[in-house]
Amino acid sequence: MLTATTIEEVRAWERTAHGQGRTTALVPTMGALHEGHLALVRRAAQIAREVAVSIFVNPAQFGPHEDFSRYPRALESDLAKCERENVAAVFSPSVETMYPAGFRTRVHVEGLSERLEGASRPGHFQGVTTVVLKLLEIVRPDVAVFGWKDAQQFVILRRMAEDLNLPVALEAVETVRERDGLALSSRNAYLSPAERRAAPVLHRALQAGLARIIAGARTVAPVEAAIREALAEEPLVILDRLDIVHLDTLEPIERIAPGKTLMALAAKLGSTRLIDNVRC
Ligand code: PAF
Repeated sequence: MLTATTIEEVRAWERTAHGQGRTTALVPTMGALHEGHLALVRRAAQIAREVAVSIFVNPAQFGPHEDFSRYPRALESDLAKCERENVAAVFSPSVETMYPAGFRTRVHVEGLSERLEGASRPGHFQGVTTVVLKLLEIVRPDVAVFGWKDAQQFVILRRMAEDLNLPVALEAVETVRERDGLALSSRNAYLSPAERRAAPVLHRALQAGLARIIAGARTVAPVEAAIREALAEEPLVILDRLDIVHLDTLEPIERIAPGKTLMALAAKLGSTRLIDNVRC
């Protein structure tokens, strides 16, 4: 497995792979790899001959009061996990490599980036789209694989790829969950034991909303009420956002759009902010 920290090294890997007729996939990550990331790697390996994983905690997508400095970093064990998954190349650049002195360009997907998480975390998605476009340009994969756990991120990146005619296919993989329903996330490591016990309510609440739809609800109001009611069972969980929107436009809807509805929530447990969503 190649472990590259420079753009030249990973580009040389890409040129060799493509020069010898092998397709490539990129799984962009911020490291602290868990089973959710490994599911992306395994999907990438099904689609392409060689898989590259990028590991970069991207300062541009963290707000000034967010957890950039304490975000978990575990490069050695991440490399071991990638090795076990037969990853061909890991690209783990420094901040200076990605954002050298004088860097001034930002990529912004208008309209989609300001909604949902973007309203709570101004500038977050601009940081994501900027770094992902750079990673795609550097690694030049045929396919890039993301998780539905960050549904809004995927919708925005898909729009960016289409708008900019990027020569890459984007694919999203279903969220991987603990047995009690909690979506895997590197931020779960911040939870105290009591918060960890309370956290599965995010998934349960979304399932309660989904159950209302399956039972026949066609408007958003009763679905939203069911989600809020379920969340209220856990006093440690403070709802930050609940958005029921159209999956493509991310615009709020009043009536459930079959197959095109995204229900997304963000909640705080102590100082930890977790997100989850369901599509239906
Ligand atoms: O989903 C993530 O881990 C990050 O937002 C990404 C796509 C790696 C960009 O930094």
